[in-house]
Amino acid sequence: MGFVIKPAEEWDVPAILAITNQAIRETTALWVSAPYTYEERLAWFRQRRDEGFPVLVAHEAGQVLGFGSYGHFRVYEGYSQTVEHSVYVDADSRKRGVGRALLEALADTAARQGLHVMIGAITADNAASVGLHEQCGFVRGGVLPEVGRKFGNWLDLLFMYKLLSMNPDIESEQIV
Ligand SMILES: CC(C)(COP(=O)(O)OP(=O)(O)OC[C@H]1O[C@@H](n2cnc3c(N)ncnc32)[C@H](O)[C@@H]1OP(=O)(O)O)[C@@H](O)C(=O)NCCC(=O)NCCS
Repeated sequence: MGFVIKPAEEWDVPAILAITNQAIRETTALWVSAPYTYEERLAWFRQRRDEGFPVLVAHEAGQVLGFGSYGHFRVYEGYSQTVEHSVYVDADSRKRGVGRALLEALADTAARQGLHVMIGAITADNAASVGLHEQCGFVRGGVLPEVGRKFGNWLDLLFMYKLLSMNPDIESEQIV
């Protein structure tokens, strides 16, 4: 393996920014075309931390190979035990198990936080992400056709979800 998964620190933000912007430039994983600035990525990192959500990095020999995080799925109170995650791996470090290690660590953290469901909102033709999620036990929830656009093409959005091991106290609560 050679890499370790650990919570990100502020000094990891420039590497997180570089990996994010590479995905923006080269893939349809993120449906934006303008690169993020350092200030935007730092604000995102601090917001995740302040809300108690993890940002994890895969480190090897002082280098960040990839990162993953989750946050609110939707802000309404009834969704408070559901989170939406994302995982990004530097193009030179893919197909080495980094994405899987990050996603498994996120799912472990979410289960320990008493969360109930994790959702990946995935561009439907992103075979690498779909394969990664299947391998980590996520199942297909449904597809929203042509809800996005990038590089001159319509994009379909596939939701893949995983029910986490249940906390009996939380499960018995009725949400009305
Ligand atoms: C999707 C992504 C995170 C996968 O990370 P990775 O470190 O390369 O994935 P892993 O090496 O851990 O692979 C885990 C499994 O995912 C699947 N997978 C990974 N890359 C794949 C590919 N190119 N095609 C098909 N399946 C793939 C396989 O099932 C793989 O298991 P295997 O190696 O035993 O076959 C990475 O390709 C990436 O960062 N892509 C750009 C950003 C992105 O799409 N992020 C996801 C947004 S929802």
